[in-house]
Amino acid sequence: MAHEKLWGGRFSEPTDTFVEEFTASIDFDKRLYHQDIRGSIAHARMLGKQGILPMAEVEKIVHGLQGILARIEEGNFDFSVGLEDIHMNIEARLTEKIGEAGKRLHTGRSRNDQVAVDIRLYLRDEIVEISAYLDLLVDSLIYQAETNLGVIMPGYTHLQTAQPILFSHHMMAYVEMFTRDKGRMEDCLRRMNVLPLGAGALAGTTFPIDREHVAELLDFPQVTRNSLDSVSDRDFALEFMAASSILMMHLSRFSEELILWSTSEFKFVELTDSFCTGSSIMPQKKNPDVPELVRGKTGRVYGNLMALLTVMKALPLAYNKDMQEDKEPLFDTIDTVKGSLKIFADMVREMRINTGNMRTAAAKGFSTATDVADYLVRKGMPFRDAHEVVGKTVAYCIANGKDLPDLTLEEWKGFSDKIGEDIFDCITLEASVNARAATGGTALERVKGEIERVKAGR
Ligand code: ARG
Repeated sequence: MAHEKLWGGRFSEPTDTFVEEFTASIDFDKRLYHQDIRGSIAHARMLGKQGILPMAEVEKIVHGLQGILARIEEGNFDFSVGLEDIHMNIEARLTEKIGEAGKRLHTGRSRNDQVAVDIRLYLRDEIVEISAYLDLLVDSLIYQAETNLGVIMPGYTHLQTAQPILFSHHMMAYVEMFTRDKGRMEDCLRRMNVLPLGAGALAGTTFPIDREHVAELLDFPQVTRNSLDSVSDRDFALEFMAASSILMMHLSRFSEELILWSTSEFKFVELTDSFCTGSSIMPQKKNPDVPELVRGKTGRVYGNLMALLTVMKALPLAYNKDMQEDKEPLFDTIDTVKGSLKIFADMVREMRINTGNMRTAAAKGFSTATDVADYLVRKGMPFRDAHEVVGKTVAYCIANGKDLPDLTLEEWKGFSDKIGEDIFDCITLEASVNARAATGGTALERVKGEIERVKAGR
């Protein structure tokens, strides 16, 4: 259906149909309908309070907008590409419904400050949801950490066996990361939670508006301080996308570990069937699709950040149509992050741990070599010399097909006369883990303490 353009006054020819399609954003910005209506209602009420519009008209507008909201939510609203975007689709429909009064709604406002407030309202709620999903994931990690307390696994550097650690310590490492991710989301929310409406097209408005009143109606603790900045920056969306990229980076590292730990070579964990798929040709396969996809989706979230950074780069103040390109990457980031967190929270809670395989692997690879060096230091040897002695011991073991616990006291003494019977107690997995007892270490008591601390803080 062809619609009269809301800005048609100065034009004598109709818009080319393809140009209309090309410039329209309605296909993706219709998801802002709720925020757009909420913002318009607040704006109209303020116009009424300030005597800019008669109260009777304000009531018509508010009632009309509420009706449109209901229609959209029922799926009974005809979005038109000819009306370009969500703002004009709603306004045109309002005028169709209530006449004159509808045409007065846009008094003292521009689509430029309108879209800026819509996105902020939208993103604000989404960030609250994302934070809740982060909490769910942290719950699952804590659940795994508590259920498997005492399980020892190899800790790696360079993906080579380094030192034994508690599986719970590994889970709690991710708790730290996702807790910081939540903090980044909250920081971003705080800076974003400022009302841009009232900036007009770019310079403010000639009407005696009350921005603080609109801020109160829309639950913004503050109003923006510069009209040009209000309509022309998207740093809040970029900040969210940067925080999302870091969050996805964390999820992708966790994904990678789960994929590796699910291989028949590692067999440290088993993801439940509901999070895996089979192969159409190889009957034995159970593929860890979920972590693989999350690892892959990290790429699109980074890409979204780069897309918007590049859109914004070198844009002169104030609003430019380029900025309409903010929405798709932003919405895609929100959807991807939410989906990834939701699925991870469930998958992590349900995954099963192969305690025995972890322990066997932890005992391999001379994982307690550092403990022997520390032992020698306690017996008075300088650390560098101790490192050398243990290095030689390991080389001897490799040459003779032995592991550290296989060595006799005689053999040990051949490397240093400082070594006594007590060496055997020092190189068990438990001793190695529990010796790392300073704050932040993998000792059982420390890890328990961390679990308690995190739980108490939630
Ligand atoms: N659809 C537009 C956007 O998303 C709304 C603002 C349009 N403003 C304008 N002057 N064309 O950016």
